[in-house]
Amino acid sequence: MYQFDISAGSKAELYHDLTAALDALTADEPDAIANMANAAALIWEYLPDLNWAGFYRAVADSDGGELVLGPFQGKAACIRIALGKGVCGTAAATRQTQLVADVHAFPGHIACDAASRSELVVPVVHDGRLIGVLDLDSPEPARFDAEDAAGCEALMAVLASRIA
Ligand code: SME
Repeated sequence: MYQFDISAGSKAELYHDLTAALDALTADEPDAIANMANAAALIWEYLPDLNWAGFYRAVADSDGGELVLGPFQGKAACIRIALGKGVCGTAAATRQTQLVADVHAFPGHIACDAASRSELVVPVVHDGRLIGVLDLDSPEPARFDAEDAAGCEALMAVLASRIA
């Protein structure tokens, strides 16, 4: 059993503590699936108001690449997403974090869970290679802000080399 000391104070403290916990949890484990699974579980347990948290992995296909569902928490989800499609495919294609306050206003949003209202997707890049994306969904409109984006980018900076 793991015990984490995660602050319930400010968002900055929360992400600081979560980053330290993720670092400790994945530092000595070389298995990418295990590390993605524990990262999804940690985020799901400590970030409030989520209905989905997990990974899509970048894999090669005949058209140059796509995203395939990875470890996650939440309802069963779409398995394959083309690069450039939906919020996840846009984050993967542009390698830019996507902060979506209203998923219904995002052109091409892919609805895996009808409860989702807002979404944050962070690309995971290691040594210039796209590894995949972290996808967080919330049933609350505008659940995520710039601090969440920066916090999740910090989490993925720690994780990237451990899921590559
Ligand atoms: N909404 C995402 C699809 C993945 S699910 O939210 C888990 C998208 O538009 O890419």
